[in-house]
Amino acid sequence: MNLIASSLETILAGQVPSGAYVASPTFSQYRYSWLRDGTWIAYAMDSVGRHDSARAFYLWVGRALAGQQGRLERLWQKLQRHETPDEADYLPTRFTLDGEISSDFWWDFQLDGYGTWLWGLAAHVDLTDDRDLWATLEPWVALTVRYIAALWQSPNYDCWEEHRERIHVSTLAALYGGVSAVQRHSPALVPDSLPEDIRSFTLETGIAPEGHLVKYLGSSAVDASLLWAAVPYRLVEVTDERFGQTLARIERDLHRSGGGVYRYQDDVYYGGGEWLLLTAWLAWVYLELDRVPEACDLLAWIEAQATPDGALPEQVSDHLLHPEHYAEWQQRWGKVACPLLWSHAMYLIVKSLLEKRI
Ligand code: BGC
Repeated sequence: MNLIASSLETILAGQVPSGAYVASPTFSQYRYSWLRDGTWIAYAMDSVGRHDSARAFYLWVGRALAGQQGRLERLWQKLQRHETPDEADYLPTRFTLDGEISSDFWWDFQLDGYGTWLWGLAAHVDLTDDRDLWATLEPWVALTVRYIAALWQSPNYDCWEEHRERIHVSTLAALYGGVSAVQRHSPALVPDSLPEDIRSFTLETGIAPEGHLVKYLGSSAVDASLLWAAVPYRLVEVTDERFGQTLARIERDLHRSGGGVYRYQDDVYYGGGEWLLLTAWLAWVYLELDRVPEACDLLAWIEAQATPDGALPEQVSDHLLHPEHYAEWQQRWGKVACPLLWSHAMYLIVKSLLEKRI
């Protein structure tokens, strides 16, 4: 079984004609399209030269956002009157594959995906020089920047859809990455100081006394999503001392020696397994640090988790952090999602970076 080929097939099979990518075709709660997952899937397709697939996804995002203008009008009015918006006034985190909002409850107010898609679109345009696409999507880019500019300091759910009451450092990193990428392409769309305001706020408030970035403001723990602060969002450079401290804590607390990477120590979702996409992320960071053999070990571990027909799950459950919580999730939603397109995407991204180096 060739995992590159099966990853490509899984992703293509999970992209519907509208351009949306399903998060997982077989897991009931994930039969939707997330901006976060979708952007990484699109970036994976860009990294293997399937720009057509990525382009279709970004056009779908534009159409999905175009459908939200009424909601945003309500939001702007409430913000102008200094009223607290209702949860339903915010943009959603996942859309149906038709680009609509589903009527089922979800933990919707998450900002990170809005930074992520801006970052991904800019990366796609950098790779393809598709200025027409940028011009077509500019109104929705502008709308997203306005949304981020208005809300970036508000507590909102993190990339794991938890802790609505907190401000999360990896979310701030995604917002920084998104608005600074837009500023490079279309400076007029972004308030001049917005990227630097987000960055300096994060570095002033999001660092523990020990010198590492924290999971959320006020916490002393780390979360593996903090890897994003350097790769790819460059809120800090990969060689920055603060990132070095963060990486060391992630390695100590969240990387199982010889295995994969956990999200964070208190993770109880499906008992808190090792996440393939985060394992790939650590490999990506190692590649940037020239720690190539360690990156290869992590990729080999990911490959060993594939099913015989080449599917990668969201997480593996052999060494759970909190095994007593596994059964409740299985009863609620069935087995761990497999295949998860985001896992396949991160594998493809890192594998193709590695191949370019060899
Ligand atoms: C994860 C999210 C992800 C979603 C769809 C959730 O369990 O926490 O990060 O976007 O699944 O894959």
